[in-house]
Amino acid sequence: MQPDYDDCWLRYDEVPEGDRRESYRRLCTHAYVAEESRELGAVREELRRGLEGMLGRDPHLWQHPPRTVDGFLAVGTPGDMDVVAQAVDEDRIADLDDGGYVVTTGEWEGVDTLVVTASSDRGLVYGTFHLLRLLAMREPIADVHIEEEPTSPDRLINHWDNPFRGSVERGYAGQSIFDFERLPDLRERYRDYARLLASVGINGIVLNNVNTGIPGREEGNGAMEELEGWRLLETRYLEKLTGLASTFRRYGIQTYLSINFGAPEKIGDLDTSDPNDPEVEQWWAEKAEEVYDLIPDFGGFLVKADSEGQPGPYNYDADHVDGANVLARALEPHGGRVWWRAFVYGSHKDRAVQQYDTFEPLDGEFHDSVTVQVKNGPIDFQPREPISPVFGQMPETDLGLELQITGEYTGQHVHACYHVPMWKEVLEFDTDPEGHGKKVKDLFTDEGTGMAGVGGPGEDRNWTGHYLAQANLYGYGRLAWDPDLTTEEITDEWVKLTFGTDPDVVETVTEIMHSTWPAVVDYSTGGIGLMHMMYNGSAYLENHYDPGPEEWPGYTGITDEGIGKDRNSRGNGYAQQYPEALAELYDDPESCPEDLLLFFHHLPWDHELGDGRTVVQTLYDNLYAGVEETQRLRDEWRTLEGEIDDERWRHVAERFDEQVEHAGIWRDRLSEYFYDHAEIPDEQGRVGGDD
Ligand code: GCU
Repeated sequence: MQPDYDDCWLRYDEVPEGDRRESYRRLCTHAYVAEESRELGAVREELRRGLEGMLGRDPHLWQHPPRTVDGFLAVGTPGDMDVVAQAVDEDRIADLDDGGYVVTTGEWEGVDTLVVTASSDRGLVYGTFHLLRLLAMREPIADVHIEEEPTSPDRLINHWDNPFRGSVERGYAGQSIFDFERLPDLRERYRDYARLLASVGINGIVLNNVNTGIPGREEGNGAMEELEGWRLLETRYLEKLTGLASTFRRYGIQTYLSINFGAPEKIGDLDTSDPNDPEVEQWWAEKAEEVYDLIPDFGGFLVKADSEGQPGPYNYDADHVDGANVLARALEPHGGRVWWRAFVYGSHKDRAVQQYDTFEPLDGEFHDSVTVQVKNGPIDFQPREPISPVFGQMPETDLGLELQITGEYTGQHVHACYHVPMWKEVLEFDTDPEGHGKKVKDLFTDEGTGMAGVGGPGEDRNWTGHYLAQANLYGYGRLAWDPDLTTEEITDEWVKLTFGTDPDVVETVTEIMHSTWPAVVDYSTGGIGLMHMMYNGSAYLENHYDPGPEEWPGYTGITDEGIGKDRNSRGNGYAQQYPEALAELYDDPESCPEDLLLFFHHLPWDHELGDGRTVVQTLYDNLYAGVEETQRLRDEWRTLEGEIDDERWRHVAERFDEQVEHAGIWRDRLSEYFYDHAEIPDEQGRVGGDD
């Protein structure tokens, strides 16, 4: 039975009759796949599924190379199969980084071959997905030579599951797909999730939320404690995780857990979790051993410490190095890593200043098995932020880039907002233009470094709440694999795989995708560097959708005279955390990029910008432009009626209606808020005026 959820970009729609289909048939109807290993089992299954879908019949899977056919597909390492060894340079394959692969055409005893090979079985999984992608995009394969290696060794998804509550923090796609109570029972959906992740090169999954205990729920409320994610480290739950971990392992994905820094007290009955206490050290070492006995390829621990109510080393007069290193020493003998988040709180009122101040002085002190995981911006996944000054300035530390796949502050999957163009801006950013000149994307290529995408597909039919939000999961994986890919390349792949190759559909959907993020930035921030004006609400951690600018004067720096925050040499000195060339650029309102202007500068409402318009007028104009653009995108989408299936067309059309309405609420709320302070009406009469 077809599962009742979407295939996302793994649709494998049938290739129409014609030359292309014939050439695919000639090389792919017969497949010779190396001996069984867990990953090769996954390869066979995927070939069956993909080739049957696209070519209309099950491939013939051979146990030896077929001789009496026109051509065949061979999947294996050169050591596995002569056919492969003859088609490629073995040394070159052996040199590929873990996960790297080659897809190439060759010949074996007079028969044409299409070869997928790699140095590891994980690479064969990736190579197989790449081949199927070529077919799904209707690309030629008769004369193909592709060689790929992942740029970052670690490409994680941070799945923020609240294991015992059936929810996903910032999920926006319904209930959790994981049913931890029922484990070790497995659902087909786990495998299909693993397929989606592996198909874009993700090689690690953190199964649970970084908030492993909800503050305030712990004290004296046993019933609530039962619901907290830190429990996954208890023996009874670790035992349940083994089957799930093997499901992911088949697709080359390692399992990780978010842990609670207070675990030695909560689980171990110690009376402290002080990282410098020998008993605590011993407890972690034993716990790690237990984990690896059960899950031999376990990836490691992710830790949110001293942040938003989560315990951390500060509770014990220790620092982040002490905290991260005690865990690293426990994991190191087993090859695991600690991903220690830099999203911490401290003495600074302005969060922007905190991370660099806390972490830069610790550069060089972290254990080799620690990766410091840093969000792209210094605030918190805003629609647009400057790049965190930590990047490029901790050369002695393995860093990980944390991006948010899920659209927490970008419309929570009611709004369409494609994050890939935003991430490209992050990755292409030069962290020290007059110094070492390294771009953000250059920082995650060595052992121990990588990327972490915060996401959390859920039980919704479409996995992500909004069909178009699938593109963010796709794009994250592709960029983690190869940050040099352009937005255009990624969008082209995703659109074709998701909606088919009809040129008009591709053009329209592509244009819509590329226009969504700038529109969201305009109507939810005014487009010149304001951010974090979201309603915070009372529900713990489930908010950030509606506007609530009056809650955040500390972020916007609003007064009756002007707006913006002096994060510069006249203010809190944030700009000075950057290397000199950037510090100078940001410090002067004349040179500061306009899209970040009010992040760095408090300016009078009537201050004139480059084009002669005032600050307040620019804000009004951008707010209005963002809504108009969203209306245009909705209308564009409507033109696709009948061109794509009705279910997806209607879903997206309805979401666009909601987005247009909600964008209008944002525009009105923010423009009135600005007007209330500035008392300067809009020149076009849309805000303020006679009344
Ligand atoms: C944001 C988000 C929280 C999350 C936090 C984090 O603040 O709103 O839900 O817990 O980031 O990254 O830890």
